[in-house]
Amino acid sequence: MTYFKRTPLATQMAQQLLNPGVLDQGLRSGLFIAGQRRTGKTTFLRQDLIPALEERGAIVVYVDLWSDTKADPAALVNAAVRRTLEDMQAPGSGLWDRVKRLKGVDVGAAGFKFAFNLGDVGEPGGTTLAQALTEVVDRAKTDVVLIIDEVQQTLASDSGAQMMLAIKAARDAINPRPNTPGFFIFIGTGSHRAQVAELTRGRNQAFVGATSIPYPTLDGEYVEYLLQELAAQKAPAIPSLPLATTAFETMGFRPEEMVRALRILQQENPSQADLVFPAIAHALKTSAADTELRKLEDLGTLAEAIFDRVARAEEAATGLYAADALAEYRQAVGGDVTAIQVQRMTEEMRDANIIMRIAHGAYAVTDPFVRQAWNERKHHLRPAGATLALEGAPPNVAVEPLQPKTKHKPLE
Ligand SMILES: Nc1ncnc2c1ncn2[C@@H]1O[C@H](COP(=O)(O)OP(=O)(O)OP(=O)(O)O)[C@@H](O)[C@H]1O
Ligand SMILES: [Mg+2]
Repeated sequence: MTYFKRTPLATQMAQQLLNPGVLDQGLRSGLFIAGQRRTGKTTFLRQDLIPALEERGAIVVYVDLWSDTKADPAALVNAAVRRTLEDMQAPGSGLWDRVKRLKGVDVGAAGFKFAFNLGDVGEPGGTTLAQALTEVVDRAKTDVVLIIDEVQQTLASDSGAQMMLAIKAARDAINPRPNTPGFFIFIGTGSHRAQVAELTRGRNQAFVGATSIPYPTLDGEYVEYLLQELAAQKAPAIPSLPLATTAFETMGFRPEEMVRALRILQQENPSQADLVFPAIAHALKTSAADTELRKLEDLGTLAEAIFDRVARAEEAATGLYAADALAEYRQAVGGDVTAIQVQRMTEEMRDANIIMRIAHGAYAVTDPFVRQAWNERKHHLRPAGATLALEGAPPNVAVEPLQPKTKHKPLE
């Protein structure tokens, strides 16, 4: 399936970031975007937002902290900044072509060399990120946008926190200068709302007070595009747009699930697509979360009791070893439970990436979608781990009434 371009949204965001009006000045303090897993955040950054920023003359440095989860976030960011610096030193680089064309800044055929050693940018004792990025802004006379994907990964280590401080220092070195030829703009995206929020709200966070917005998920226009593609391919079963849009919502706005659901629909090839499609969507929604919840089931009843406590908390669960928590686990397990056992099990659940620690003694479910599935399932008193068959006839699931489509608000 080909990729649906989101040019209008990207253009609007790029404009607000690079030429903020009086009400958008806060964006210069940093922009954090939180969205659920597999909803197209990275794709949007890479395919839409970065090109839109570059078309407006900005120099963009992009880092995905999940590209290598074992690596130190600071090392990944430093490496990306160095690549940009090298690009600027390379004669005839595309970067200078663009800056010349869009900003009228010409480095000349000979190019230039930075006065510092690129190899130790960001390293202890080396050129700081602030110094290096100030040079970039002043030489290219344009804006520099640093985008960190899965920025919540910096919460996991001290070096991550240090790096956020180094980035903030760069912002504060560049932006307040009265005649700065360009600005430094930081964008962080993440899959976990509570954690991304922590980065802008936590008392000790470098970016406290920065703007934080929900990721604008793909919407009815994407669904319409898919249905048009299907029609062009003369697919046998095509659901109606309102129903397909609701189904997309049911599946958590995840393109992969949507495509899968449409594929299953073609296999079933029913005479009335609209009668079958909602049930397929519901079944897929459950099965996506099931994979994760099965890991939990394998860890046993205590794990499920702990998970339940974490999943009930709106943002972060604390007091996992408190007396009332232990009493709750004992009741669930039907036997004695000690704080040590809970501690060990919590570690195992972290290793399995089912829950994550977001601050000292505070935990959250890693995937909010899984949390939602768990809470809903409990609500419907369905036994944990129950899955719906996807083969053969579609499962007999009640069809929800159509929901009014919610429009996404532009940046606040
Ligand atoms: N605009 C789009 N059109 C078509 N498919 C898309 C689009 N955006 C994302 N997808 C598909 O959705 C899936 C998830 O996309 P992506 O990896 O960008 O999401 P993500 O939110 O960054 O996920 P993760 O939480 O794993 O980082 C991919 O298979 C991608 O191809
Ligand atoms: Mg991603």
